[in-house]
Amino acid sequence: MGVVVPFEEKETGQARIEPLVGLTGADMERVNAMILSRTGSEVAMIPEVANHLISSGGKRLRPMLTLATATLCDYHGDGHVKLAASVEFMHTATLLHDDVVDESDMRRGKLAARMLWGNEASVLVGDFLLGQAFRMMVEVGSLRALDILSTAATVIAEGEVMQLAFAKNTETTEDEYLSVIRGKTAELFAAACEVGPVIANSSKAHAAACRSYGLNLGIAFQLIDDALDYGGVDSKLGKNTGDDFREGKITLPVVLSFRRGSEAERAFWRRTLQDGEIEDGDFEEARVIMRRHKALDDTIERAEHYAKMAKDALGLFPASAMKDALNEAVDFCVARAH
Ligand code: IPE
Ligand code: IPE
Ligand code: MG
Ligand code: MG
Repeated sequence: MGVVVPFEEKETGQARIEPLVGLTGADMERVNAMILSRTGSEVAMIPEVANHLISSGGKRLRPMLTLATATLCDYHGDGHVKLAASVEFMHTATLLHDDVVDESDMRRGKLAARMLWGNEASVLVGDFLLGQAFRMMVEVGSLRALDILSTAATVIAEGEVMQLAFAKNTETTEDEYLSVIRGKTAELFAAACEVGPVIANSSKAHAAACRSYGLNLGIAFQLIDDALDYGGVDSKLGKNTGDDFREGKITLPVVLSFRRGSEAERAFWRRTLQDGEIEDGDFEEARVIMRRHKALDDTIERAEHYAKMAKDALGLFPASAMKDALNEAVDFCVARAH
């Protein structure tokens, strides 16, 4: 709270993701094997493109959440492994598509797939992975889980399209921004957390609690991601900072800076983001303005608010190591530098 050090130097504090990684480790090995086995195709370019991205790792946060919430709800079957793999495939597909939409060059510390195979291949392999995700969900046989994840797929697309509609519009409100990130990011976190209790046949209240945990964690996660796009370090992020600025994407640090700024500063945002006239030094200037208005600090503070909501949502569950790990994962996501 009340971050006073420059964002780049912010310590990650005590919060660790390791407890969650440890408790889901055995199941995650099965998920990773499942993921690799489902990228196969006789069309050689499909596994090539998919494995380029998949082998670069990523945090695998969303599938861990599916495994963890299933375990939290005393699930004793096998279905959570395939659902977790489906969730990661949906995420991987959105990343392939997202880098095309955002014209991003780097992903997970490597050249984005589109830089190596082109936009067309990225989009189409993303479609393949989405298809494979749905086949795995069908194999699990829970119509309710299929409903939740297929709804998430549509809501993610809606969020991305909504973002497109708000792009370059410097007058976008904080509420409009929140609707975008709820759709494009938080909905998948919510769905990943809801299918766990659903296949465990938990009560509606427990499923709603897990969903709320995921939704609020997802909002916090994207808020931090948007702060990192201005305040992070490329080598830690594995993607380039400044992407949002160059694309004219209106994220919360911009919304706050624009609203709190002087007329001259607003003219700066209109020229750079709205008109796309970006000159050398403008990204640095954007960061100076943001610092002047505490825009990054306050974005982090907003994330901390949603993080608290995520943790309170789990209050219904009795104390357990998994509950502790899920709570700590929230703090990790807010303190993350990657
Ligand atoms: C990236 O998600 C997309 C956003 C929602 C910001 P992650 O940061 O979870 O990506 P990986 O899977 O760890 O690379
Ligand atoms: C993240 O989008 C959400 C989706 C991929 C749908 P962003 O465009 O904000 O994330 P990064 O910065 O490319 O990871
Ligand atoms: Mg992007
Ligand atoms: Mg994007």
